[in-house]
Amino acid sequence: MSKPQRQPLPFNIIPLEDEVQNKIARDFAGNPNGLVSCNHWGFKLSATVTEQEVEDMFNHPLDPRDVWVVTPPKCGTTWTQEMVWLIANDLDYEGAKTPITSPFRWSFMEFKAVLDKGFVAKLRTQGVIPNGPAAASDPNRPSPRFVKSHLPFSLNNPRLLDTCKVVYVARNPKDVCVSLYHHMRLLRLHDFMGSLKLFMEYFMEGNIVESGTIEHIIEAWNLRHHPNLCFLFYEDMKKDLIAQIRKVSKFLGKDYSDEQVDKLAEHLHFDNFKKNPWVNYEYMKALGLMYPDRGSFIRKGKVGDWKNHFTPEMTEKFDKWMEEKMKGTDLVFIEDLDEQD
Ligand code: A3P
Repeated sequence: MSKPQRQPLPFNIIPLEDEVQNKIARDFAGNPNGLVSCNHWGFKLSATVTEQEVEDMFNHPLDPRDVWVVTPPKCGTTWTQEMVWLIANDLDYEGAKTPITSPFRWSFMEFKAVLDKGFVAKLRTQGVIPNGPAAASDPNRPSPRFVKSHLPFSLNNPRLLDTCKVVYVARNPKDVCVSLYHHMRLLRLHDFMGSLKLFMEYFMEGNIVESGTIEHIIEAWNLRHHPNLCFLFYEDMKKDLIAQIRKVSKFLGKDYSDEQVDKLAEHLHFDNFKKNPWVNYEYMKALGLMYPDRGSFIRKGKVGDWKNHFTPEMTEKFDKWMEEKMKGTDLVFIEDLDEQD
């Protein structure tokens, strides 16, 4: 098979204005150099990423046996990864007793592009960051590979959907905003130092690494009928996980019994997930990569938690912003559920 020709990146990598960079450096200790805008709607990566690295990701080698999970951060990526991995691997619960970040399980496509290289080097000299275990995507690993990517479709390999099966997860932006706020405070590698109110401004401006969420989701939503794309909502997983397990199983060409599906739903239940050391990222606390007193990666797992955080003024502002962003799309988000697990 001939090697596909390398494709030039169709976007310019543009640093944000100085004033914005300075603000980001002030409020996110982990982003002292700020961010760059990487595509037509301003998806952000760390300012220390190189054009070559972004172009390499755009040309990431693909194999039809590979399975990808693509999603904006905090939409239930880890939950979906575990579901997809187990479904694709014949419910190998023993094999799943390996960190989800291990290269034997999943690689993280843009790992290097999310972090500020200088800040990481500083933490390394302080002995905070060891070598690994989170793995950047290694194109030399044999297939089938399981790849997690927060890059939008426009920045992943343009042949991705025609080549590999992709599971995409979306979540309502209000809950994403709250979840991301906690995440950015929890991780020393980002270390947001302000209030939720301030964070919401960053979220709406899309000036957070790997934002903006709505554009990311709309881009995928417009591709949802592609036969290689399985489009999920976090809210549907909370409402009826069994139905979503069946949907993904069918998509991946697997047929499991009711008992098997029930067992997987139990394994994926929030209470079990939170306790499962192979998926809950608690090891990052032991490594000093997360603050021990700022909550957990597997945090609350609810639809509508934003209601516990947004003031009426914040809600009004966010709603107006969303209305503007959602113009022209038939995509609708569910922001609350009467019943959920
Ligand atoms: P919250 O912060 O709202 O609790 P990601 O993996 O994309 O970073 O997403 C993390 C979000 O998914 C967090 O949301 C986390 O608690 C939630 N989550 C993780 N595992 C879950 C599970 N088994 N059930 C429900 N939510 C889960």
